Amino acid sequence: MAEQIAWGPELETGIPAIDADHKELVNILNEVLAMRRDATASNQDLNDVLFKLSNYVCYHFQKEEKLFENSDYPATEEHKEKHRDLEKTVVDIHDLLGKDPDMLNLDEMENFLKRWLTNHIQKVDMSYVPHVAA
Ligand SMILES: [Fe+2]
Ligand SMILES: [Fe+2]
Repeated sequence: MAEQIAWGPELETGIPAIDADHKELVNILNEVLAMRRDATASNQDLNDVLFKLSNYVCYHFQKEEKLFENSDYPATEEHKEKHRDLEKTVVDIHDLLGKDPDMLNLDEMENFLKRWLTNHIQKVDMSYVPHVAA
């Protein structure tokens, strides 16, 4: 089972509002990871945290995309596409967990979300930092 994500300087963009959001995303994802270790947690509990994650992801992506609007960030469209893909994936996971949980490999799910988030912050989000006003 996946280790919790530790916040560190490699995840910091230096933009306070963005770093605060990213910390919250890490916290919610860590809640998901903790729930997988908790034998008393039900699929419904897990689905509730995934719902929270899904909402926060949408909120945060909108905030980032607002920053791109008034910037000269050249990768705006690709970045938005990555956001839409992840939003869709999280909704799909949430739906599947509600309807047909046996079809879902939860270890794969948590590793995917963890890898996606850390990779996106470090490689994709960092690329807009020089282009937007802090
Ligand atoms: Fe982000
Ligand atoms: Fe992003």
